[in-house]
Amino acid sequence: MSWIDEKADKWLPLIRQAREQQVYPLFRPYETGGIHSVLYGKPVVNFSSNDYLGLTTHPKVKEAAKLAVDRFACGLSSSRVQATTTAHVELEERLAKWFGFESCVLFTTGYQAMVGTIQSLSDRDTTLVLDNLSHACILDGAFLAAGVPTAAPEVRYFNHNSAKSLERCLKTRQRKNALVLMEGIYSLDGDRAPLPEFVEVCERYDAVLLCDDAHGTGTLGKNGTGLIEETGMQGKVPIVISTFSKTFGGIGGILLAKNDVVEYVKHNARSFMFSASLPVPIVAAASTILDMMESEGPALVQELHEKSAYMRKNLLQLGFDLGKSDTHIMPVMCRDRRKALFMHVALLESGVFMIPIIYPGCKEGEERLRLNVTRGHTKEDMDQALELLDTYGKVFYVQSGEDLGPMEENWS
Ligand SMILES: Cc1ncc(COP(=O)(O)O)c(C=O)c1O
Repeated sequence: MSWIDEKADKWLPLIRQAREQQVYPLFRPYETGGIHSVLYGKPVVNFSSNDYLGLTTHPKVKEAAKLAVDRFACGLSSSRVQATTTAHVELEERLAKWFGFESCVLFTTGYQAMVGTIQSLSDRDTTLVLDNLSHACILDGAFLAAGVPTAAPEVRYFNHNSAKSLERCLKTRQRKNALVLMEGIYSLDGDRAPLPEFVEVCERYDAVLLCDDAHGTGTLGKNGTGLIEETGMQGKVPIVISTFSKTFGGIGGILLAKNDVVEYVKHNARSFMFSASLPVPIVAAASTILDMMESEGPALVQELHEKSAYMRKNLLQLGFDLGKSDTHIMPVMCRDRRKALFMHVALLESGVFMIPIIYPGCKEGEERLRLNVTRGHTKEDMDQALELLDTYGKVFYVQSGEDLGPMEENWS
């Protein structure tokens, strides 16, 4: 047995055990796209999707992608350096205008946009200051930068969403340039960052603020342009990163900043320069969603908010704990690994999918079901989910918080 087999062998029993007990939640193979999908031949309503405005499967979006296949096929066989099209450039210009920035560049994923931006801006004169609940792309960007022996930045963490803690990090930093990394909405907890407080602290300590608004894009602000619009912070945040993998119905990373900063990152971000360019059918789909956001954005966002308010009110009335959430992302806190896993199986059997988040996806004791309300959910979908959550929640003591007690199987 080589060390790679040993490594796999040591780690895999957990997964095998979950599969044997039929509670393994990952990599379920959907048979169609969209919030209303098919799993194992049966209809299922997906409540863990990030298709926040339900536009991914809109006929116009699919039609635009099909037309682009005829003209540009599915790939351009190279990186943006030599595989840029007029479609990329036009969409970048439109996005910059819509988000209210001077310039924009499209990466192939949001993850790559973040990792490449952090790597390209970091050096020995930089301190990276991260929220301690940062998404993997922010952490990985910092780890990547810190791994460059001759140019490693200092890396510091502040307490989640705490301007005070951020201030302490900035005050005591050891390098002259600071890049502060935070998210508009945190995808596991559904809470939003206190952006005006962060802007104020960054201004006082001469730090550059980067907001990852992957989950705020399309969901916050009257027009859906995100947390900056919602908090009136236009012009105060130098860099925003977002994605096409949620509201924009596809895949792709968005970097927004001043012209020169975008130019600099384009020529220095290795995840941009050395990875294939975004396929044009995806650009066409995102561009069609942008048409919709420009023409009917406020109505679409309003509908999402109304549906979220309905779900939140009912979940709270039924006695569920939604943790720190104050957005359309509403974790149903189970605070027990077995409860989260059992609930997800019971719901799925009845045609509702909510992925369980367990350690190491969250801290032990903070296990939950991921429940995202989207504009694509109908009232019937939400009522069905509420009824099932209530029924199974009582069976597994989710609302009451009582202990499940010992089980026959070894669940420890
Ligand atoms: C906060 C946040 N940032 C970045 C990303 C990465 O985006 P993408 O899916 O485009 O790689 C995600 C996606 O999960 C995310 O939740």
